[in-house]
Amino acid sequence: MRTQTQLASALAEAREQTDDLFRLVRPTSLYERPIPERHRIVFYLGHLEAFDWNLIGRYALDIRSFQPEFDRLFAFGIDPPPGQLPADQPSDWPSLAEVERYNLRTRDEIDDLLSEVPEQLCHVAIEHRLMHAETFAYILHNLAYEQKVGPQTGPSATPAARPVQQMIEIPEGAARLGRDPAEGFGWDNEFYAHTVEVPAFSIARYKVTNGDYLEFVHAGADAPFFWVERDGRWFCRGMFSETPLPLDCPVYVTHREAEAYAKWRGAKLPTEPQFHRATGDPPVSGNFDFRHWDPIPVNASDGDSGATGPQQMYGNGWEWTSSVFAPFPGFEPFPFYTNYSAPFFDGDHYVLKGASPRTAACFLRPSFRNWFRPEYPYLYATFRLVEF
Ligand code: AVJ
Ligand code: FE
Repeated sequence: MRTQTQLASALAEAREQTDDLFRLVRPTSLYERPIPERHRIVFYLGHLEAFDWNLIGRYALDIRSFQPEFDRLFAFGIDPPPGQLPADQPSDWPSLAEVERYNLRTRDEIDDLLSEVPEQLCHVAIEHRLMHAETFAYILHNLAYEQKVGPQTGPSATPAARPVQQMIEIPEGAARLGRDPAEGFGWDNEFYAHTVEVPAFSIARYKVTNGDYLEFVHAGADAPFFWVERDGRWFCRGMFSETPLPLDCPVYVTHREAEAYAKWRGAKLPTEPQFHRATGDPPVSGNFDFRHWDPIPVNASDGDSGATGPQQMYGNGWEWTSSVFAPFPGFEPFPFYTNYSAPFFDGDHYVLKGASPRTAACFLRPSFRNWFRPEYPYLYATFRLVEF
């Protein structure tokens, strides 16, 4: 149980986090659409407040809407099947001043009555906002550098050699997946706790690096979305600048690329239960919770939960699993948000575990599950190999 004051300050902190992100966009670029499949930036500016309003203002508190067109316009994001692009124009969207007025009023009305809102709904609002702090970073990542007001990035170090991969044996045993209500807040797809028997397997000590993946590219594979070739040299497109390909950092890839690489090496991607078997408790520090914008070397000690186990299973990039996103036994959608998970149990989304540089610390609870389509190239997704 968290006190009302704790929830109110967690919401205030989450708002600061997302407000800071929008400040990185030059005002003249707010109507851009950096990812062709997703909404324009201005949608996200309205979405965070409209979501809170629909959930807390309307559902929990039953306050009368002051601008119902905005409640609907900004209600839902998009998860388009590949090849279907939205065609709306900047002029289809309200002005910045109108959205800001809507946002201020929403916050005022919600804050006045926040103490009456059930704890679970407060968590939903806070975590929904923090998830968008990450998915909005993916969008921002694809906005041209000159359209962002970035923090000064230091001189990029000469890429170090990649560490040698090693396999670590994980004995046969039970993996605990999911969560029980007594353990605290979780999303609908995290329930309920259950165990799965996992046969022995071995897992890589490190995430697959850019250096590892470069060998695959030299063997004929396409370059990942985050790479760019200039005058015969590879660079990585970071959030605020390009850097010579850091060979010792994890490679961001799609599920398809991760699978193809694993096959090429004669290995596999871990299943969701294997991920659980291989990790210890989530670390207290590491490359997550907004400390960095981009990956750090896979052998950087920051965030290691144990010196001998697999490194950085939480942080420095989500890890693709071979598990299709599906409900756990006993799954029930939240009655107040039936579409959080259920529409994505369609066989075309895969589970990711761990955390990225832009994942808030609350998502490091072991039961948290992320999911995306196998070809979606924009997220901060890494992987590691298993053999069994
Ligand atoms: C859990 C990150 C896959 O962005 O599609 C945000 C989170 N859902 N608003 C997504 C979400 C509705 C979701 N992911
Ligand atoms: Fe959303």
